[in-house]
Amino acid sequence: MKQFTVTPIGVIHTPFKEAGGTPIQSAFAEGVEGVVEVFEEYVPGLKDVDGFERLWLMYWFDRVAGHKLHVTPYMDTQPRGLFATRAPSRPNPIGMSPVKLDRIEGNKLYIRDADMLDGTPLLDIKPYSPKFDYFEVSRSGWMDAVKEGSRTADERFHT
Ligand SMILES: C[S@@+](CC[C@H](N)C(=O)[O-])C[C@H]1O[C@@H](n2cnc3c(N)ncnc32)[C@H](O)[C@@H]1O
Repeated sequence: MKQFTVTPIGVIHTPFKEAGGTPIQSAFAEGVEGVVEVFEEYVPGLKDVDGFERLWLMYWFDRVAGHKLHVTPYMDTQPRGLFATRAPSRPNPIGMSPVKLDRIEGNKLYIRDADMLDGTPLLDIKPYSPKFDYFEVSRSGWMDAVKEGSRTADERFHT
């Protein structure tokens, strides 16, 4: 199978230096501020981005240990298939977060609801659109049974 190379288009700055204590999703990181620094050559692509309240950030989990195909998610106590989780250690460790955009100044995007580590390599930015990205669903697998799961990470995927 063909191999692919990904090239970071920027870097995400957040208050989080290590996995332990970092929110596990943007939904649990309400108000957490971050700055997305877009490399100069990609800045023309930010035209019209300021009209969107939320953006999908796609990024690389650059500090995970190797992946396993069964993992115990932060929000559960029993092993689940990796692809039924949002665990950061994956064969292709790509993260996705629907962050809130406050403003853009030059090559910097000021965001909130950041759930990634400081220095995370940015792969892509896409507009969040409720027209495309919001669906009413009737089941969410094992997550339906979670009453009070953890909202922050520990080091289980990093050591
Ligand atoms: C459960 S993952 C979910 C991230 C994203 N919202 C998703 O669904 O793809 C979030 C956790 O990944 C870890 N993490 C974030 N950025 C990372 C990075 N650059 N390298 C390794 N781990 C990272 C942190 O522990 C964070 O709490």
